[in-house]
Amino acid sequence: MGGGPYKAQGTPFVKGAPMIEIKNLTVAFGAVTAIDALDAVLDAPVCGLIGPNGAGKTTLVNVLSGFAQAKSGDVLVDGNALLVMSTAQRVRFGLRRSFQTEQVVEDLSAWDNVQAMLDHVPHSLGEAEGQVHRALEHVNLLDSAAVPGAELDLFRRRMVEVAKAVVGKPRLILFDEPGAGLDERESRLLRDAIAAIPQQFGAQVLLIDHDVDLITDICTQTLVLDFGRRLALGPTRAVLDDPSVRRAYLGT
Ligand SMILES: Nc1ncnc2c1ncn2[C@@H]1O[C@H](COP(=O)(O)OP(=O)(O)O)[C@@H](O)[C@H]1O
Ligand SMILES: [Mg+2]
Repeated sequence: MGGGPYKAQGTPFVKGAPMIEIKNLTVAFGAVTAIDALDAVLDAPVCGLIGPNGAGKTTLVNVLSGFAQAKSGDVLVDGNALLVMSTAQRVRFGLRRSFQTEQVVEDLSAWDNVQAMLDHVPHSLGEAEGQVHRALEHVNLLDSAAVPGAELDLFRRRMVEVAKAVVGKPRLILFDEPGAGLDERESRLLRDAIAAIPQQFGAQVLLIDHDVDLITDICTQTLVLDFGRRLALGPTRAVLDDPSVRRAYLGT
């Protein structure tokens, strides 16, 4: 392997400017329509995804990553049809996600937690060590590399999740409330690590967070969901000033 384009179903993946195109996407759980005929184009390097509890944010991340099925609609990432890919193909394609509850393996070291991610994606063996090193360096965890997951505090666990997301040539990283439970200083460090991802690792980022300041700081474009529908989409400032957003989400 190595060198050539990664393949899914015999077709080389298309490269190009970062872009998520969501077309008429509907996701239903029984009688609940969690995503309702959603259309959106997200083309900023770091995009925000916000909305009240139950708005459909996690469901959108689940559909993009293959953990939930769409009822109808399409999603293109950099021009590649995503929904026809298996979960494993999406990982090889460069899709990464974090979960609301962090998923660090307790009896693996921080290093091995990151290394394990590489087992699922194409990489040359010679590159593996350098990639893990670079990822841990990015989140300033090199001095915790040998510490078992069980002994890492919440902040370092959250940072391990970021490090896992950046190995193996990521293309699109979905972060679902990566800052939950962190204090202000820790949030700032997390914010800096996430904001630098597009430049440092070449991936687009979609970030869910309740912290509007965090979203404002690093997301140039933001999508607001409410009841599975698009309430607003555009430059983050403009979106947060939108009266309908203030009413539905910010409670003013
Ligand atoms: N697996 C599921 N089964 C049934 N209903 C679900 C499931 N996942 C989400 N929902 C429902 O879909 C809606 C959107 O949920 P979710 O995407 O988790 O919202 P958010 O992440 O914005 O808080 C909610 O009404 C929720 O109860
Ligand atoms: Mg959620």
